[in-house]
Amino acid sequence: MLDQSDGYVTEDGRKIGSVVMEMKNITLRFGGVEAIKNISFDIREGEIRAIIGPNGAGKSSMLNVISGFYVPQDGEVWYRGERRAPMRPYEVARQGIARTFQNIALFEGMSVLDNVMTGRLTKMKSGLFGQAIWKGKAEAEEVANREVAEKIIDFLEIQSIRKTPVARLPYGLKKRVELARALASQPKILLLDEPMAGMNVEEKEDMSRFILDVNDEFGTTIALIEHDMGVVMDLSDRVVVMDYGKKIGDGTPDEVRANQDVIDAYLGVSHD
Ligand SMILES: Nc1ncnc2c1ncn2[C@@H]1O[C@H](COP(=O)(O)OP(=O)(O)OP(=O)(O)O)[C@@H](O)[C@H]1O
Ligand SMILES: [Mg+2]
Repeated sequence: MLDQSDGYVTEDGRKIGSVVMEMKNITLRFGGVEAIKNISFDIREGEIRAIIGPNGAGKSSMLNVISGFYVPQDGEVWYRGERRAPMRPYEVARQGIARTFQNIALFEGMSVLDNVMTGRLTKMKSGLFGQAIWKGKAEAEEVANREVAEKIIDFLEIQSIRKTPVARLPYGLKKRVELARALASQPKILLLDEPMAGMNVEEKEDMSRFILDVNDEFGTTIALIEHDMGVVMDLSDRVVVMDYGKKIGDGTPDEVRANQDVIDAYLGVSHD
């Protein structure tokens, strides 16, 4: 089914492009612990790529390698056809890769709008010096940034809480605000570390719909870690399966579901 060169069209008519990111033989160690063992996989433009596996499999570590939080001891990261030099997270962000965290990382005392505005920081052109000299320009930039933030807030249907301090929000909404902040940077690739963890069924359905809408509306490529297999099977085009730092499966949801190694290691057992 997969055309390895130029992409393909999914059953529901979504267009998946060519490979935009490639992880080649990635190995990551923490002291004696090998969190990622020689793993390779790719991400295609426009696809929703899931990473699954039991607790401690190395999923977050992999997302942290993509986002520049960890530098692997071995292996190569290729982005848009070029090998990426080791980079700081902010440099990766400037390349159009945004993320959310497994444990929500928002400014709790700040309003929803201000939190979403922090997602614009990587886009700011005028630094402090520029702002001092070109006040008008900095103000124009601020207005433009605010417009993008407001647009994302509308899109994720959180207008009614835009002035509310994040600390006062229930967990499910905090997760949505974190998504909003990541989207505010208008990323090409969005990395989501368990966007639905701890949510009830209704909240999961909402989040699933927003993820699909983001992918559809903005053409954003999405890589997400998720434990809920129903969600994974519904949302994703392809799935990477990790176990103890190794890759034990990679393919469409149907292929992965039929893979005996995956069944043995993971499926059929509950992981929350
Ligand atoms: N900063 C760190 N320092 C030391 N060890 C780490 C660090 N981050 C992760 N590890 C170890 O690497 C392994 C993989 O952890 P990781 O968080 O990537 O797993 P995961 O698949 O995301 O698990 P979970 O489903 O519980 O979130 C684990 O053994 C973990 O203890
Ligand atoms: Mg994790």
